[in-house]
Amino acid sequence: MSGLKNEFENFLKSNLIKAKSYHPYYEKALNYMLSNGGKYFRSQLLLGVVKALNEEKLKDAFRVALAIEMIHTYSLIHDDLPIMDDSDLRRGVLTTHKKFDEVTALLVGDALNSQAFYEISNANLTDTIKVKCSQTLSKSACDMVLGQALDCYFEKKKLNLDELIFLHNHKTGALIAASFKMGAIIAGLDDKKCDEFYKIGVDLGLLFQINDDIIDAVKTEEEAGKPTNHDEVKNSFVNLLGVSKSREFRDDLANKILNQVDDLKIKELLNFLIQKYLKG
Ligand code: IPE
Ligand code: IPE
Ligand code: MG
Ligand code: MG
Ligand code: MG
Repeated sequence: MSGLKNEFENFLKSNLIKAKSYHPYYEKALNYMLSNGGKYFRSQLLLGVVKALNEEKLKDAFRVALAIEMIHTYSLIHDDLPIMDDSDLRRGVLTTHKKFDEVTALLVGDALNSQAFYEISNANLTDTIKVKCSQTLSKSACDMVLGQALDCYFEKKKLNLDELIFLHNHKTGALIAASFKMGAIIAGLDDKKCDEFYKIGVDLGLLFQINDDIIDAVKTEEEAGKPTNHDEVKNSFVNLLGVSKSREFRDDLANKILNQVDDLKIKELLNFLIQKYLKG
């Protein structure tokens, strides 16, 4: 599985976005955070599903995987802005607004959001698959924005567990669910099966965000590549349940997810990603 990460990174680096103009640094800023690594969790998930279920389609799935990383990176660039989480560090480097400026960071996020759908439209896949991927990704990206809106509006106002799960399912679950489902769409699974993938993906996304809340509480800035102890006024799992109960909740959810999956190769993929990234 780890081979997919390297292959994807090479693909991304050879498909950077072109935006030639007389702007002194816009094009550089546009590709700056996108090409600065990250775990590539969502693209690995999408590609892993295609590889497991229909390897012939793997090569043509890379452009859709790139699209999901573009949407995800745009969400992070905006999330780090002073009007949202006000973070100076991301992926171990200065955030886009710190490296360049706020206007550029805002606009680069806007461009990545649109570029993602341009990538899908240009993928070497059937029109039906491309429309299904666009529908899935656009709806999920809107759900992510709703989650971010709830996160920001209810900062400093305590939510209960159900409300927090709703928030996390939207702000993080949706894009992870879309990655998992788009893998199934590209592999050629029927609509019912693809919807089942989406549901499991939402749980995986919730697990991911609970782990991210734990990372904020237990890791150093250096280990995380972003500021930690940053969630004090946020609605996070750790603030609601504490670290050890959050870990319990997370690990129970991981077992629930793995038990819901019948296909052994998909189980193996999820187990690999959970062990590697979701044990903070
Ligand atoms: C961070 O996402 C934001 C959340 C949704 C928790 P990642 O942890 O996937 O960030 P990168 O892409 O690896 O930098
Ligand atoms: C952000 O959640 C989720 C997004 C939709 C971008 P966080 O604010 O917890 O992400 P980090 O911790 O800054 O990566
Ligand atoms: Mg945030
Ligand atoms: Mg943040
Ligand atoms: Mg966080």
